[in-house]
Amino acid sequence: MNELSPFDISVATRHANARPRDARFYQDPYAFYGAVHAASPTFFWEEYGHWCFTGFDEVNALLRDRRFGREILHVMTRQELGWPDPKPHTADFDLTEKFSLLNLEPPDHTRLRTLVNRAFVSRNVEQLRPRIEALANELIDRFEQNDDIELLDAFAKPLPAIVIAEMIGLPAEMAQQLVAWSNRMVQMYMFGVTEAVEHDANAAAREFIDYLRPLIAERRANPRQDLLSHMLTAREDDRLSDEEVISTTILLLNAGHEATVHTTGNAVKTIIESGLDPAALFATPAQTEATVEECLRYDAPLHMFTRFALQDVTLEGGISLRKGEVIGLMLGAANRDPARFAHADSFDPFRSDGANVSFGAGIHFCIGAPLARIELQTALATLFRRVPRLRLAAPPRYNNVYHFHGLERLDVSW
Ligand code: HEM
Repeated sequence: MNELSPFDISVATRHANARPRDARFYQDPYAFYGAVHAASPTFFWEEYGHWCFTGFDEVNALLRDRRFGREILHVMTRQELGWPDPKPHTADFDLTEKFSLLNLEPPDHTRLRTLVNRAFVSRNVEQLRPRIEALANELIDRFEQNDDIELLDAFAKPLPAIVIAEMIGLPAEMAQQLVAWSNRMVQMYMFGVTEAVEHDANAAAREFIDYLRPLIAERRANPRQDLLSHMLTAREDDRLSDEEVISTTILLLNAGHEATVHTTGNAVKTIIESGLDPAALFATPAQTEATVEECLRYDAPLHMFTRFALQDVTLEGGISLRKGEVIGLMLGAANRDPARFAHADSFDPFRSDGANVSFGAGIHFCIGAPLARIELQTALATLFRRVPRLRLAAPPRYNNVYHFHGLERLDVSW
């Protein structure tokens, strides 16, 4: 690493250095990915202290490999792992994570996921398409008469936040507040979190919980046709506790908009920068689907997820992992694997080898993928139909949260 390059890679040792908070790195992680694909698609990332995988097939296989899990405390103690005790000042945040689907393994995961999944299967979310289209049009109506706008606040953020809030059964007017809580909470996933950030994320989690508790009590007494009531009134044998409902609601609200907002922003930037004719990209429903999938591949919103080895494992290439060791699965890099995609670094919505791992794979595969796809297809097609001459008014910059690869703001004009 030097003034010229924000990363270096040793082919001999398969070790790499790249500082996740170096702006040169997170503004364009693809330069690093290109270099590791060429030098060593599996490498030990010094700054994180674990092995990382960037090959498309490897990432796909490891996400499904049951020798790895998102959780480890069901098979090892904190002492065995050498972990410190939980921090008292993150207790509320930890509570929201405790029963999060993302942190559970079977059988608890299966029980919770089955209960929530019904609401998110394609045939159910497909019914939301007209509402999503109406919402996209309403948001565009508000700014169409201007000459320019910051598109994240005006369009990309409110749309998925309102959709998921309504699905759960919270008022649309709360969407902005939900986004604010969520933004503060996801700071916890930043590399090198400070204590100040921990306090703030915890305060946001506490406010979120305090908002939900009375609402849960109210819905228990007076159930409605919404997901919150559904979770509360499930059959006796899979009834959820208040804590489980809180964790799941917060996960759905946070996961339900963060990645979709980032994908919308990244996709608009990509499409404008490509110089391609938007009319061709959204000419038919099938082409709209292909364009959205290519946007998800080309500039994914979530770049790394980790897994614990649940047992000692030796992987191909001679990498030996001890039980409890972490690996990094690099979705954003796998999507650019030159061994899987022709011209992997080109945005090509007409490609015949389209695919991506942006929604993960295996038992934690994104439950919201069918909904996110409908939101993205509808939002992007409507936006480019209504404002076909969209262009960038300022060079967009990515946030300093490497894992959540999304823009700080997106100033556009027409
Ligand atoms: C473009 C938008 C989205 C992307 C790229 C995305 C990506 C992902 C990924 C990669 C995972 C798996 C993480 C892992 O394996 O460690 C995941 C899980 C999850 N996502 Fe999404 N997501 C998106 C939108 C949504 C939406 C709209 C919702 C909900 C309404 C949602 C809810 C969830 C939930 C609940 C999980 C956990 C599933 C489980 O652990 O079983 N996501 N998402």
